[in-house]
Amino acid sequence: MNERGRVRPAKHRDDAAILTLEELFPSDRMSLRSVRHFLKSPSARTWVAELEGAVVGNLILLTRRNSCVARIYSVVVAPQARGRSFGERMVRAAQTEALKLGLKQIKLEVRVDNAAARALYAKLGYVESEALPGYYEDGADGLRLCNTLSRKKPAKRR
Ligand SMILES: CC(C)(COP(=O)(O)OP(=O)(O)OC[C@H]1O[C@@H](n2cnc3c(N)ncnc32)[C@H](O)[C@@H]1OP(=O)(O)O)[C@@H](O)C(=O)NCCC(=O)NCCS
Repeated sequence: MNERGRVRPAKHRDDAAILTLEELFPSDRMSLRSVRHFLKSPSARTWVAELEGAVVGNLILLTRRNSCVARIYSVVVAPQARGRSFGERMVRAAQTEALKLGLKQIKLEVRVDNAAARALYAKLGYVESEALPGYYEDGADGLRLCNTLSRKKPAKRR
């Protein structure tokens, strides 16, 4: 048993599992149709976190033609699988892919009161670029965060 699990690109057959994860959000629910759309869209990349054969997390990254900025549209890890670095590994996978695509920045929106997500993004170098008062359906305030991507410099040889 590999308790660390793994992060891999999503496949079409992950659609139902992704929908179940997205249903963890009380607002802004996604339909199965939108999940399937993201899974086949050339402007979306989706990863899942897998633990003991079960899908326990997903991240959707959106790109736009003629834009060097990608957007993390959604990231969620099932409550029982949190704290195992799945969130971090999925965001890093998205960043690596964005760099491969030649993109320069990733942006996203987060609720001001979402301490866990804000700590995750802060750890990975995301900074606040805009306050979004009343951004969410329930009136909660949001923040736009962004991260300018850079390849790690190779370690110097002695
Ligand atoms: C936010 C979320 C994706 C984090 O996923 P996770 O797999 O549990 O996070 P990780 O284990 O990868 O944690 C990575 C870092 O995030 C931060 N973090 C994660 N959970 C945290 C918590 N509950 N409190 C404080 N910091 C937290 C820490 O800095 C952590 O690094 P560390 O382990 O070195 O301390 C998860 O809590 C989640 O799905 N929440 C509900 C959905 C959501 O809010 N999505 C984000 C919308 S913008």
